[in-house]
Amino acid sequence: MTISITPFEPADETWLRALLATAHLATADITTEMLGNFMIARDDEKRVGLAGVEFHGTSGLLRSVVVESSVRSTGVGSRLVEAIEVRARKRGIRELFLLTATARDFFARLGYHAYTRSEAPESIRATREFVELCPRGSDCMSKPLWIPTHYVLFLCTGNSARSILAEAILNHLATPEGSVRAFSAGSHPKSGIHPLALAILEENHLPTAELRTKNWSEFDQPGAPRMDFVITLCDQAAQEACPIWPGHPVTTHWGLSDPASVTGSADTMRQAFRETYRVLHRRIELFLDMPLGESDPSALKTRLQEIGQL
Ligand SMILES: CC(C)(COP(=O)(O)OP(=O)(O)OC[C@H]1O[C@@H](n2cnc3c(N)ncnc32)[C@H](O)[C@@H]1OP(=O)(O)O)[C@@H](O)C(=O)NCCC(=O)NCCS
Repeated sequence: MTISITPFEPADETWLRALLATAHLATADITTEMLGNFMIARDDEKRVGLAGVEFHGTSGLLRSVVVESSVRSTGVGSRLVEAIEVRARKRGIRELFLLTATARDFFARLGYHAYTRSEAPESIRATREFVELCPRGSDCMSKPLWIPTHYVLFLCTGNSARSILAEAILNHLATPEGSVRAFSAGSHPKSGIHPLALAILEENHLPTAELRTKNWSEFDQPGAPRMDFVITLCDQAAQEACPIWPGHPVTTHWGLSDPASVTGSADTMRQAFRETYRVLHRRIELFLDMPLGESDPSALKTRLQEIGQL
């Protein structure tokens, strides 16, 4: 048997839909565009397996891995999943998600771990597979494709403007290879992100789909990423009693006035957000230039404080 894994071709479609139906897997939402994200395992000319992925921002939904029963347990399924992971990494996907009712142990062996449905990113929870096609009792699993070496948490009170801008800018400037990942949170989060914060990010072509306001208590829970740096952006959050962050992160304060408090014409308000974006962008560029692996926390803290004055 000589297996090769190659991209979907239009001539594969009838066979692909029939194999999915045989395995009782969803076909109703598979569009022509989605078919282009399937990989096919071939034994010479014979098609023997398939796997597909949907891309949603920096998250991917791995779906529909099926191998013809005659060649199961020969490594074809594992190779298909690996091929999808390679493809997803090239697309800048940071984490793959999946729902499975039948093959939890198969995916666990490939490095996927259980995940609560409600914790999946909004873009993944909104997929038809999540909303209606996969049985409610299915296991939700995920696998990070990019494991950051440093985590940064930006804090302010409402988590609707400054900290959201900082999170989006850092995650944009830190390429997947850059290995730094930012989050943001608030001590008293507002119900949603300020529309002008979203507008300024969109103006600068930064992704916004994964952004949401959240309480900072999410990050002192078991299983939360362990922060290396915690940066407060508003004076009020800096004065409030923070949770005790596990791992003793380096903390600093980058005080910035609140663009959301600026009043005046629509143009004046937008300008205030643009200025906040500009200052944060400059500071975060300098932050990413720092030797983040520096072992002396006081040297890191001093440099962070200097950046916060710029
Ligand atoms: C799940 C599936 C894709 C695995 O394909 P495969 O080519 O047999 O996988 P591999 O050969 O790479 O790995 C096989 C190993 O995974 C295990 N495995 C396979 N299917 C499994 C399942 N449904 N649950 C748990 N473990 C499973 C096998 O026991 C085997 O272990 P072994 O080598 O110790 O015997 C295949 O069984 C299949 O098509 N199943 C029906 C469709 C399905 O349930 N897909 C998953 C949901 S999207």
